[in-house]
Amino acid sequence: MATDLGKIELTFCGHAAFAIKTPGGKQIIIDPFLTDNPKCPEQLRRPKHVDALFLTHAHGDHLGDAIKLAAQFDATCVAIVELATWLGSKGVKHTVGMNKGGSTSIAGVKATMTHALHSSGLQDGDQIVYGGEAAGYVMEFENGFKIYHSGDTAVCSDMKIIGELYKPDIALLPIGDFYTMDPRQGAYAIRLLGVKTVVPMHYGTFPVLTGTPEKLRELTSDISDLQIVDLKPGETLTGALRRLAAV
Ligand code: NI
Ligand code: MN
Repeated sequence: MATDLGKIELTFCGHAAFAIKTPGGKQIIIDPFLTDNPKCPEQLRRPKHVDALFLTHAHGDHLGDAIKLAAQFDATCVAIVELATWLGSKGVKHTVGMNKGGSTSIAGVKATMTHALHSSGLQDGDQIVYGGEAAGYVMEFENGFKIYHSGDTAVCSDMKIIGELYKPDIALLPIGDFYTMDPRQGAYAIRLLGVKTVVPMHYGTFPVLTGTPEKLRELTSDISDLQIVDLKPGETLTGALRRLAAV
């Protein structure tokens, strides 16, 4: 399992939002909850460029600025088919509406949509409409490095399959509790995945998200070679797990 991202720059924007610069220089954002994200640093709220947006599900703390950014940069939105269709109805010009198990190549990234154990109702005006199901992504970059963003999820046995089939080099996992896994489930997920580098997410944003990286570390202290990289919002991970401070 690789511990060198090479030229990939993985920037934590707070909550479940990550901006990734690919080895080919493309800019992607997963779950672009930026403007209204209390943890997103000011300088990351207005990205300079976006080539593709990946959405794990339709909840507001993940959908975020997707429609606005897609229009601003003519960026493609990747989402489960029902959510992608809804985005199209809201004026998003380029969508990739896929489903679990499927893969697509965009911006030099081969992304496979994975199962997540969560809901995905879509707030449309004052109604909640069907937004498809919640999902995650395994993303393989040009240099062979693989990042798994689980989306919001409870621990689920599919993580064993994801670990065996794709062998992700880094997993971005929610640990906040209440809406997703807590550290106890996160620790179990790490064992199912067999992953050796983990970036915790979806904690501390709101008072109910009480899980902490410290607790996750405590519950996984027996796993050899495991690195829990608790990126602070604005920090970037690149190269051989080198942390770059927020700019
Ligand atoms: Ni959610
Ligand atoms: Mn969420």
